[in-house]
Amino acid sequence: MCGIVGYIGKREAEPILVEGLRRLEYRGYDSAGLATLTGNRLHLRKKAGRVSELGSFLQTSPAPGCIGISHTRWATHGPANDVNAHPHLAGTGNGQVAVVHNGVIENYLVLRRHLESEGVRFHSQTDTEVIAQLIACHMDGDLVEAVRKVLSLLKGTYGLAVVSPRNPDLIVGARLGSPLVVGIGDGEHYLASDPSALTGNTQKVAYLQDNQLCVLTSDEYHIFDAEKSRVSALVHSIDWTPGESDLNGFPHYMLKEIYEQPEAIENALRGRLSDADSSAHFGGLNLDVQQLRRAERIIFTACGTSYHAGMVGEYMFEEFARIPVEVEYASEFRYRNPPIDQNTIVIALTQSGETADTLAALRESKRKGHPVLSICNVVGSSIAREADGGVYLRAGPEIGVASTKAFTSQVTILALLALFFGRMRHLSSIQGARMIDELHAMPDLIRRTLRCQSEVQRIAEKYFHVDNMLYMGRQYLYPVALEGALKLKEISYIHAEGYPAAEMKHGPIALVDASTPSIFLVPRGSIFDKVMSNLEEVKARGGPVIAIASEGDAAVTDHVMSRADEVIVVPDVPEYLQPLVTVVPLQLLSYYIALLRGCDVDKPRNLAKSVTVE
Ligand code: M6R
Repeated sequence: MCGIVGYIGKREAEPILVEGLRRLEYRGYDSAGLATLTGNRLHLRKKAGRVSELGSFLQTSPAPGCIGISHTRWATHGPANDVNAHPHLAGTGNGQVAVVHNGVIENYLVLRRHLESEGVRFHSQTDTEVIAQLIACHMDGDLVEAVRKVLSLLKGTYGLAVVSPRNPDLIVGARLGSPLVVGIGDGEHYLASDPSALTGNTQKVAYLQDNQLCVLTSDEYHIFDAEKSRVSALVHSIDWTPGESDLNGFPHYMLKEIYEQPEAIENALRGRLSDADSSAHFGGLNLDVQQLRRAERIIFTACGTSYHAGMVGEYMFEEFARIPVEVEYASEFRYRNPPIDQNTIVIALTQSGETADTLAALRESKRKGHPVLSICNVVGSSIAREADGGVYLRAGPEIGVASTKAFTSQVTILALLALFFGRMRHLSSIQGARMIDELHAMPDLIRRTLRCQSEVQRIAEKYFHVDNMLYMGRQYLYPVALEGALKLKEISYIHAEGYPAAEMKHGPIALVDASTPSIFLVPRGSIFDKVMSNLEEVKARGGPVIAIASEGDAAVTDHVMSRADEVIVVPDVPEYLQPLVTVVPLQLLSYYIALLRGCDVDKPRNLAKSVTVE
C-alpha cells in the first residue's frame, strides 16, 4: 500500500520520480507528491488524486533538482486531500526535512500530543507528519543521526525516505515491516518500495531488511543495521522484460491479465511435471523429504483472492494427498493461538508477497517452529524471502487491482503440490500420470474458455444495473462462488455474496427476487444433480439464473439450458480443475459489468493492489 520512489544522481529527478510513481500507482492512488532539492532549496509538489493530476501540476510548477523523493498514497489517517498527501515537511530553513512513508505509526497520537504540548504545529491529519516533525526536532546537522533517533521512538510499521536541504547530497531510507529496495545505477541510486518502480532504470537491487537504514548518495549506498554497523546486502538482478507491464493494446490491465491466463498456467507448469515418476518437482521447497513425508497437517494462510485459491487447495490436498488441511484468513490466524501439532506445514499464498497480514502470519508460524512455504508471484518479495522455501507463480506482473491470473496460477501450483504430496503417499503412478495429462491440457482449455467473451458481454449488458447478485457453487466450486462475488463487488460496487449452493435454504434464499440474479456453477460432476436442485429452488422463487455449465454432453447442457435464463458453457474438465475454467467467465462478467457502470476497472475505489497495512 502506497508507493515510494527516490532518486539521487546527475539527471533531473522529477521525470524519474513521476515515471516510477506511475508504475507504483496500483499500490495506492488517493494522492501523489514529490520533494526535490536544489542546493539548500526544497521544492514540494503534491496533489490529491491520481499521479496524472500531479503530472499536470508539474507542467506549470516543475520541481527542479537531481535528488528527490516521491509517494503515491492509499489513505490510512486523514482523507485524501492535498494537505494529507506526502511528502510531509517539518522544520524551517536549512533544517527542513521532507518525509514519505508507507505503513502505519501506531503510537502517532501519543507522539503528536507530546510534540503539540511543546508548541509544534501540525498541518495534516496523517500519522506520517509525526515522523517529519520528530526528525526536524532532532536535526542538528546530521540527517542520518536524526532519523536514527526517531526510528527508536516509533511503534508500528514503516518504509520511509527522507531528504533535507541541510544534507543536500543524500537520501536516508529505513524499513520496518514495509518493503524498501535500493536500486543501484552508475553514478546514481534509487530507493523504491517495489522494484517495479525501477523498470527501465536499473536491474540491480539490494533489499533492505527490517530494522535496517540506508544512506544513498550519487556514488555510494550504505546499509546499516539497528546497531549502526554496516551490512553488506546481497545484490539481486531483477528479471523484468521491458513492455511486460504495458497494456499491449488491451483497454485495461484486468482484461489483459484475464487473457494472459493460458500463458500464465503454461509458465506455472513449465519444467515442474515429471513423466518419469508421475509427479511434480519444485526447485525451491528447501524441506527435506522426511519433513515433507512427515507432514500430518497443512495450513494455508492468505487474504482475499489468495484465500479463495487456498480453499480450492484444501479440496485438492484432501482428495489427492489425503492430508488434513485448514485454510485460515491470515488476519485472523496471526492473532489466534490454535494448538498446532509439530508436523504441520504452513503455506502462505500471496500474489504480491507483501500483504501485511500474510507476512505476520508467516512470521508467527516460523516463531512457533513450523516449516513455512510460500506460493508467491513477486520474486524477491518479503514473503518469498522470509519463507523457508516455496514456489513462484511465474505469472508475470499483475497490475489490475482485481486479481485474476494470480488466482488461476495459484490453483495450478496447488494442483501440482497436491500431486507431489499425493505421490509421496497414496497416489498411484497411474493416477499421477493422468493428472499430468490433465494439467498439460489446461492452457489450451483456458484459451477455449475465453471464447465465451461475447456471450458474457451480452449477459453483462442485460444485468449491469442490478443492485445485488448471488453466486452459488459446491465443493471445488464453492471457493469459485466466493471469488466471483469478490470480483464483482470490488470493481463494480454491486453487492454480491457467494454461498455453498445448498446453504441457500438456511437463510440467504430470502434474498431471492426477480431483481436479484443468481449465478450457479453447475458443470458436470458428481454432484451435478444436487446443484441443479438448488438452482430449481431459486427458479421457483422467481430469481433469474445465470448458469455456468459444461460443454460436450448435449443432454446435460440441454437440461441446464431449459432451467436457467442464461447459460455460459465452459470446457468439460475433471472436477479438481473446474475452478480454472469456471472462474474465467466470472472474471469477464465482473469486468464488463464494471465497464458498463462506468467504474475504474483497474483502480477501484478505496482499494490498492498490495495491502501492506494491517
Ligand atoms: O497479494 P496478495 O495475494 O497477498 O493479496 C491478497 C488480497 O489483498 C488480494 O487478493 C485482494 O483480495 C484482491 N484485490 C482481490 O482481487
